[in-house]
Amino acid sequence: MTPPPDKSISHRAVFFCSIAKGKSRVRNFLSADDPMSSVNAFRSMGIAVNTEKDGLIISGKGLHGLSEPKNVIDCGNSGTTMRLLTGLLSGNPFMSILNGDKSLRQRPMSRVIEPCTEMGAYIRARDRNRFPPIAIIGKPLFPLNYRMPVASAQLKSALILAALYAEGTSQITECAPSRDHTERMLPSFGATISAENLRISIKGIPELHAQEIDIPGDFSSAAFFIAAGLTVRNAEVLIRNCGINKTRTGLIDVITAMGGYIKTENIRTVSGEPVADIVCRYSPDLKAVTVSGEDIPLLIDEFPVLTLLATQAEGKTEIRNAGELRVKESDRIRAMAENLRALGAEIKEFDDGMEIMGKTPLKGTRVSSFGDHRIAMAMAVAGLIADGETVIEGTSSVRISFPDFFDILEKLRK
Ligand code: S3P
Repeated sequence: MTPPPDKSISHRAVFFCSIAKGKSRVRNFLSADDPMSSVNAFRSMGIAVNTEKDGLIISGKGLHGLSEPKNVIDCGNSGTTMRLLTGLLSGNPFMSILNGDKSLRQRPMSRVIEPCTEMGAYIRARDRNRFPPIAIIGKPLFPLNYRMPVASAQLKSALILAALYAEGTSQITECAPSRDHTERMLPSFGATISAENLRISIKGIPELHAQEIDIPGDFSSAAFFIAAGLTVRNAEVLIRNCGINKTRTGLIDVITAMGGYIKTENIRTVSGEPVADIVCRYSPDLKAVTVSGEDIPLLIDEFPVLTLLATQAEGKTEIRNAGELRVKESDRIRAMAENLRALGAEIKEFDDGMEIMGKTPLKGTRVSSFGDHRIAMAMAVAGLIADGETVIEGTSSVRISFPDFFDILEKLRK
């Protein structure tokens, strides 16, 4: 299978091409609901985004070319759209209001609002500036010197975008490495940005120029097929053209430590990102592992499949320091604990993680996606290996990141 285009990189391509001058071409863009929220946001600020056969043509107007949106910007389910826009709009001299669906309106926004306010933006949000909707009046910004309190690529990217609008050099220090697509991509547009030992320096008010970008397959979407390959009896799965950026592939290291068969082949670089084909095979002798600390951000979106894999591993798997998972598209710790327990798994829930006792044969039953795309897909893989029928409620959520998920799964299953 070939995974769908990377969601994180698709969002960033739309953002950077929109504030670069000239026509950019984005090949292999993910036209799923989440990145389309970003596309529609920039359209509402006067940017022409045309779809062509294999991607997008974006007619960017430069750093100061956006116009005031005439309506509330609907970020849908997308935390990336909302958080990155909050940073970007902090430096744009007009009023904008960001809103989203029920899930997004419960996600914490103060982590972005506070440093952007410190830079000089005027921002107000619901419930003491904590939750969407968010109202922003952009201002001339001061450069920022900031130590991030959470490992979050969305926060990092929001602050980098705000820093582009601040005269002078901003410095942002991460508390642990998180996905680095923003830092990799922006220099090719002409930005001056350097990253070393968790510290990122960005020079403000650059001239950004149009680019051609080729987006690799999304490792986080491939992860569901990796999990299926490892757990479905006698399976072998070949995944082509998949991003293997180190800040995203913590799951490969964990699977290797569990004794699972996973190999990367044909490694190359596409638009500054490492890409490979991945082969994985049925691995009936998986062993339990402990995952915590700085390893968590490197597999943050793979938690649902990791917990499923742990039910098929011998021994006690412990996942800790993963409290961020409680504020994703759903509370993913609770969602996976409830769903896997319903299938017969032995689970202990912690505030910041989970303990899973394996190995447990799973039994099909009725479960919920909790409205969350990654929970729906993880449970579909669980359904493949469970005895009997598994019914998943709310599977339309796969539209967020992987519209063809069930078609591909069905094709491979036959
Ligand atoms: C993303 C960063 C991660 C991830 C999300 C996409 C990004 O969120 O969970 O799916 O594109 O920057 P956090 O940065 O909030 O951890």
